[in-house]
Amino acid sequence: MGLFKNNEPVMGFDLSDVSIKIMHFGNNGNNYDVLGFTDHTLPKGIMVNDIIKEDALLQKHIAALMKKPDYGKINASQIVASIPESKAFVRVIQIPKMSEDQAKLAVPSEAEQYIPVPLDQTYLDWQIIGGSDDKMDVLVTASPRTYVDNFLSILKSTGLRPVAFEVESAAVLRAISTPKNRAEDFVILDMNTYRTSIIIASNGNLQFTSSVPIAGDAFTQSIARALGVSEEEAEKIKRESGLSDSSESNQVKAALVPVMDNLISEIRNTIRFHEGHSSEKISEIILVGGTAKLKNIVDYLKEQFAADRPEMEIGLGNPWVNVFQPEKTPSILDSLSYTTAIGLALRAAGAGV
Ligand SMILES: Nc1ncnc2c1ncn2[C@@H]1O[C@H](COP(=O)(O)OP(=O)(O)O)[C@@H](O)[C@H]1O
Ligand SMILES: [Mg+2]
Repeated sequence: MGLFKNNEPVMGFDLSDVSIKIMHFGNNGNNYDVLGFTDHTLPKGIMVNDIIKEDALLQKHIAALMKKPDYGKINASQIVASIPESKAFVRVIQIPKMSEDQAKLAVPSEAEQYIPVPLDQTYLDWQIIGGSDDKMDVLVTASPRTYVDNFLSILKSTGLRPVAFEVESAAVLRAISTPKNRAEDFVILDMNTYRTSIIIASNGNLQFTSSVPIAGDAFTQSIARALGVSEEEAEKIKRESGLSDSSESNQVKAALVPVMDNLISEIRNTIRFHEGHSSEKISEIILVGGTAKLKNIVDYLKEQFAADRPEMEIGLGNPWVNVFQPEKTPSILDSLSYTTAIGLALRAAGAGV
């Protein structure tokens, strides 16, 4: 038995408003082999606010990127595709201790009280993750049927074989999960283009996720406004200077800091909420996603948490930590935007499902 369910190549497929990211793994006997990957930019309008608006155009882009990936080859294969965090519902609920069979009936009716959309409009997924003598903790994930059904038919029409859909936060957690962080309560910041997901994990399980509209685009817009430059120019400046301290970049840093501080206040709220309900303290913040490449972001966060949380570990995630194939892959920094795609591919390969 290798790592793969049926020894077939697998693919993680991560769709956002601005890109399709694919990670394609093969099996070289006893390990993963990176067969191909790509980060394909989508023109504006195909996906808007995490809703697929142009089915036919999306199909065309998928077909095109399969022919010409950034690296290696991408073949039709079993895929696991992402569900946007902003469209999903992830919560841990408590129910009285009962058998699995009883839970099958009890969880949906219990979950219904927490989920903001009617149950018949969602796909519900759940798993028992812990509990005490008289209670069980159940991780509930709900995703919108309309989104999943439509995405499924688009993927099938391009010859791909979707075997599962998964909320981004679950994929990200799988990718960066290690024995060390599985023993802690920690925060993952998945910093994308239009939103950042603030994810809390405990004992290797998702506990809570929220999605805030403070991410790469907000940084770019703030630079464009402050410096009076175009969006394209602001994007370039953002990548060059980030939160660096040199005198030329002081103006850039000044434009980024208010956005960053808004995000930090959201992170603090989420941490406070979690710690108010749990006996464990958050010990680490791990950054992933393209915006985690912002220069000096880790040092800036460390400075901000130094006064009240000096023991907090803060650093970039390593999305390859569970793949063991570093030679052919981009550097850790370059790979941060592939974290979701890597986590999805690992699920397709049968790791930690
Ligand atoms: N070197 C960099 N420094 C700062 N921001 C970056 C850098 N590289 C990419 N980004 C930002 O990362 C964001 C894209 O992140 P990504 O995880 O690919 O997003 P999405 O999931 O939305 O497709 C963009 O806002 C982009 O400007
Ligand atoms: Mg992303």
